[in-house]
Amino acid sequence: MYNIQTIAPDIVYVGASDRRLAKFENLFPIPRGVSYNSYVILDEKTALMDTADVSVGAQFLENVAAALNGRGLDYLVIDHMEPDHAAMIEAVLLRWPGVQIVCNAKTVPMLKAFFPGDTAAIDAALLVKEGDTLELGKHSLSFVMAPMVHWPEVMMAFDTATGTLFSADAFGTFGALGGSLFADEVNFERDWLDDARRYYANIVGKYGVQVQNVLKKAAGLAIQTIAPLHGPIWRKDLAWFLGKYDLWSRWEAEDKGVVVLYGSLYGNTASAAEAVAAQLGARGVANVKVLDLSVADVSEAVSECWRASTIVLASPTYNGGLYPPVAALLDDLQSLGLQNRTFALIENGSWAPMSARLMSAKLEGLKNCTVLETKLTVRGALNAAQDADVAALADAVAQTVKA
Ligand code: FEO
Repeated sequence: MYNIQTIAPDIVYVGASDRRLAKFENLFPIPRGVSYNSYVILDEKTALMDTADVSVGAQFLENVAAALNGRGLDYLVIDHMEPDHAAMIEAVLLRWPGVQIVCNAKTVPMLKAFFPGDTAAIDAALLVKEGDTLELGKHSLSFVMAPMVHWPEVMMAFDTATGTLFSADAFGTFGALGGSLFADEVNFERDWLDDARRYYANIVGKYGVQVQNVLKKAAGLAIQTIAPLHGPIWRKDLAWFLGKYDLWSRWEAEDKGVVVLYGSLYGNTASAAEAVAAQLGARGVANVKVLDLSVADVSEAVSECWRASTIVLASPTYNGGLYPPVAALLDDLQSLGLQNRTFALIENGSWAPMSARLMSAKLEGLKNCTVLETKLTVRGALNAAQDADVAALADAVAQTVKA
C-alpha cells in the first residue's frame, strides 16, 4: 500500500522507513531504524527529489507512482549519490523513461560508475551549478552546492515558492519515522537529539568546515522548511536545530559537562572510573554520563564526545598498548578531527601502567585539546589509599566545567 503525505503545498513525501536494518552503513547500530526520505514536487513540471535505499525500494516506487497519480515524471533531482538515496535511480529511469536527471558535474562519474547501463540517460542529464535554477511552474528550485557534506557531489535544492530546503544528509538523523513526519510533532529533544548528534558526529563530523560553509549560504535563504534525507522534517524552531549544527560543525561542545568513557577487562578500571564519576557528582557536576566502551557502541561514545566539553578516558594497559575499545574510540576521534575538548586520564596496569602515556600520544593530534596534568594511575585495583588521588582528579575535572 502506498504511504505518502503532503508536507508543503505541492510537495509530497514519498520516502519510507526501514525498521529491520541492524546497522546503517553496516557499521552504526540503529535500534530505532532509519528513514530514507524522498519528495515529489507536483507543478506544471513534476520533480522527484532523490530516490531511496533498495531495502525500501518497492514501497518507494509505489509511493512515487501514487504521488504522481498517473502523471509523468519530468525531473529526477540527485542531491547525493550515496546508495542509501541513489539505489533506486535505475528503477526510476526504467519506470519513467522520459525523466531527465538533474545533477551537478561531480555527480556524473558516480552515476556512470554505479549505473553503467544507463549511459544515455546520464549523458542527457541537466547539469546545474551553484545558483542555477530549475523552473517547475510556480516552484523554482535554486541549487546550493554542498561539497564534502559528506561526499563531493552533494548539493541542496531550495524551493523559493515554499521556502523548502532539500538539504541532503544535512539535518538528518537515525530513527525510523512514524506517521508524524515533522520534528514539531515528536519530542525531538527527548527522543531524537542523541541520534541526530550520533548521526552528525559519525557521518558528517569530519567535515565541519564544509558544513560551516553551507550554514553561511543557508543564512541567506528564507528557509521555512528543512526537508532532509533522513529523519523528521523541520518547519518550526529551525534556529534551535541550526544552532546545534553550528556548534557541532565548529567542534564546540553542546554542554559544559563531563562524559566518562572506560574500558575494563574485569571491572577494576570500571570501578576507578565510577569512583571519579561519583566524586564529580559529589562536587555538584550535573549530568555526568558514564559509558563502558565494551558495551556501548563506539558511535555512541563519539556522539558523547561531541556533546560534552570534558572527556574522562580510562583504559587498562593491554599487550603493552591500549585496551582495544579505547584505542578504537581514539582512532575515530582522530579521523573525525574532534577539537576544543579537555581530557582527563585514568590508566590501569597491573605491573607496567602505560595507557595514560599512550592515550596522550593519540590525543596529541587533536586540535585545541588539552590533557589535564592530574591523572589517576591504578595498579590492578583502586584502593582506599588512593582516595586523595581520586579526589585530586575529580577536583581538576570539576574545575573544567565550573570555570
Ligand atoms: Fe544518507 Fe550520505 O547518505
